[in-house]
Parts: sequence; C-alpha cells; structure tokens
Amino acid sequence: MTLAAGRFAPAAGALAGTVVAPPDKSISHRAALLGAMSDGIVRIEGYLQADDTLATLAAVRSLGAGGAAGGDTVTIEGVGLREAREPGAAIDVHNSGTLLRLLPGWLAGQEGRTFVLDGDASIRRRPIDRIAIPLGLMGAAIEATGERTAPFTVRGAPLHGIEYELPVASAQVKSAVLLAGLLAAGATAVLEPEPSRDHTERMLLAMGVELRRDRLPGAGGARVSLQPPDTIQLADMRIPGDPSSAAFWIAAALLIPGSELRVVNVAANWTRTGFIEIARRMGARIDGELERPGSPLAPGEPATELVVRHGPLAGTVVEPGEVALAIDELPLVALLGCHAEGETVVSGAAELRVKESDRIATVVEGLSALGGQIEATDDGFAVRGTGGLRGGVLRSHGDHRLAMLGAIAGLASREGVEVIGMEAASVSYPGFAAELARLAGRRP
Ligand code: S3P
Repeated sequence: MTLAAGRFAPAAGALAGTVVAPPDKSISHRAALLGAMSDGIVRIEGYLQADDTLATLAAVRSLGAGGAAGGDTVTIEGVGLREAREPGAAIDVHNSGTLLRLLPGWLAGQEGRTFVLDGDASIRRRPIDRIAIPLGLMGAAIEATGERTAPFTVRGAPLHGIEYELPVASAQVKSAVLLAGLLAAGATAVLEPEPSRDHTERMLLAMGVELRRDRLPGAGGARVSLQPPDTIQLADMRIPGDPSSAAFWIAAALLIPGSELRVVNVAANWTRTGFIEIARRMGARIDGELERPGSPLAPGEPATELVVRHGPLAGTVVEPGEVALAIDELPLVALLGCHAEGETVVSGAAELRVKESDRIATVVEGLSALGGQIEATDDGFAVRGTGGLRGGVLRSHGDHRLAMLGAIAGLASREGVEVIGMEAASVSYPGFAAELARLAGRRP
C-alpha cells in the first residue's frame, strides 16, 4: 500500500527494528550561536539539518560568522562576543521561537548597533516581552509595535548584570538572559521557578565559563548565575539525538500492537526526558538508562538507547512541576491518553498556548476530530481514554509537532488520518515521513 502525501493509514502490523533520532534541535541552535560568539573555529558534528536550525546558521552568517556545511557537519568561524555586524536587512528567524528568543540575548550587547528580527506568521504571534523586559533591565532597548511581537528591533548597548526572576519556567528566556550576561558588566543570575532544559548552562560550563546552579528552597526552583568571561571558545562537539523527535517513535511503538522498537542516540539529559518518565508512569515498557531527575549540573550531554514495547497504558496526572521537562511532548501525552485506560490530565501548561500554535486549542481540536474525548482547560487538557481513535482529518495549523502527532495518531487509528499541512514537519524533522514509511513497510 502506498502512503499518499499527508495520509496515514492504520499500521498493517507491528513496528520493529531500529530508529536513529535526528540531531537535537535545542542543542543545534545553541551550538551555532555559541560558535558564532566564540573566538576561533568550531566543528559541530550532527548539526540538525531542518528549517529551524538552518535559519540559525543563516542568521549567524548574516552577522559575520564564517563557516561551511558538509552533510550534517558544520564549521563555524566565530566573530567573538562583541563583534556581530549589522546585517543590513532584517534577520529572518522563519518559524523558530528559540532563535527569536536566544539571538537577542547576544545582540543586546552589541554596542551602538541595531538589528531587526522577523519571522513567519506563527512567529509574528509569539510574545517577545518575556525577553524584552529582562534585556531592557540589563541596558538594551527592544522596540516592537503595539502587539509586542515580531518584527522588532534590538538596539545594542553596554549591558550590566541583573538578578532576574523568570515569571514562567522558560529555557528560552533563561538562555537569552544568560547569553546577555556573557557581555554584561558584573554577575548575572536567573531564578527559575521550576527546572527547564539546561543545554545552555551545560555548554557554557564546558567552555570554562564560571557558572553555577544552586537549588532554591521549596519545589524544583534554582538560581543560575554566571560571571562574564573576556572571550569564549566552543570546543568541537557532536550533537546527540533529539528526545522530542524520538518521542513520536516511542509513542508509535507503545500504541501499535506487537511493536518492539529500538530508538538509538537519544539525549538522556534529565531536563528533556519528562515524556519518558510520564509514559513509564502510564505503564509504558521503555527500557534504557536516563539521567536521574534532579541530577546536579555538569558539562556534557549524555545519550542513551531505548527499547520500547507495545503494552496497555493507564491514565495519569501530569503535575505543573513536570510540564517544562516535557513541554514539547505534551501533545503526545494527550494521544497516549486517548488510548489509555481512565483519565489523563495535564495542568499548569498555559505556555502551550504560545507555542508554534496554541497547542491547547490545536491538540484538542485535532484529537477531537479523530474521535478522541478531550477537553481544553485554561492551562492544559483532560482526556478520557476510549481505547483508541477512529481517525479522520487533522489540521496541523502550520505546527510541526501537530503534523507529526496526526501521522502517529493515524498509524495507531482504526481508519487512518489525513494530515492537512504535513509539510510543517520539516521545521524539526524533514526525514519524518520517509522514516515512518520505512518503519511501516511502505513506500514514502
Ligand atoms: C526550547 C525551549 C522550550 C521549547 C522549545 C525549545 C529551547 O521553550 O518549547 O521548543 O530550545 O530552549 P520555552 O523554554 O520557552 O518553554
């Protein structure tokens, strides 16, 4: 049976074999940015070749960083912390929220220079005050029009360190402030209410930056602080596979009867493995070693190999403190919930409303259209397991994770799913449809 573009028929049989997770998107963005901020040349192996991360390479080139790409190995010749040049045109972040939020952290310290950032229709809906406020407190000016969204202007200025309490656990905002802190006079500290992905901190530590993470009393909060270095130099590195991309195959193997899938080269950093922890709590059979939740900060990114087997699932409650550790996989938690016994509830996830789409609305609309019993709440959703989904038509709303959610839902459904807007998958996983066809034994 051939797989029509965007049409995902029920799997004809169990999934078996091995999948290699594509390179991690968050780490790829940071490697390109920190490489550009470095003195010297860095070689990055396993750089993600997807729309989002190619936008970051184009952005750093427009700022003066040199380099070349050959396959998934990229070399970047940095311009140094303070020498980003004005590109002469707006920097196009395409669909990338991470580029939109992290890059201004660096640009804020480019004294006397001005930069404009813009992106696609989804980017133009995403809030920027969350970075404009702290970067403004550090001395830069971020100017946007009435809606406080892109396009916006960054006016670089001499920066000074601040102590900033994040209103929401956001790795993007934390990273923007830390990057600006590299160029600031005096120490910079960020207080996060709950843990969020810590790739920026790990990379800065590996680069010898004086950085520390201290637990705050109470729940999972921490204070991350750094002293500005004179220069930085990123060492050659290899990027591990993306747990957020691997999560689609994990979900597929869990839901399709008889499946047993090996997923190799998955980043095992505990700030990224929340989905696996949640799925295991639902009864998922996922073998493989992960970093222990709450492990102290250390340089480097561990990778692991997982073996995932189909089996029955039970509903669960995802607590607000777990949300940031599984933020991009919460749509898949909803899908697992549709197939599980009992109720699955996610709360404290209002951030989903300001992702590539309003993911509370689009997940609820999408899975309801396939026969799921799912209701939106202000800050999450509640799913009643019905033993599986009928199938139907799911709209991606231009959101890569929604598109891939629809495809996996189709494989596990009774009648198949047509995904409208499947091309969005290229934002993070251009090889997704071909990989799915291979695993399902079909021609792409
Ligand atoms: C990312 C952080 C998360 C995540 C996004 C990538 C990053 O956003 O949703 O896809 O690379 O820092 P927030 O930290 O803003 O929640």
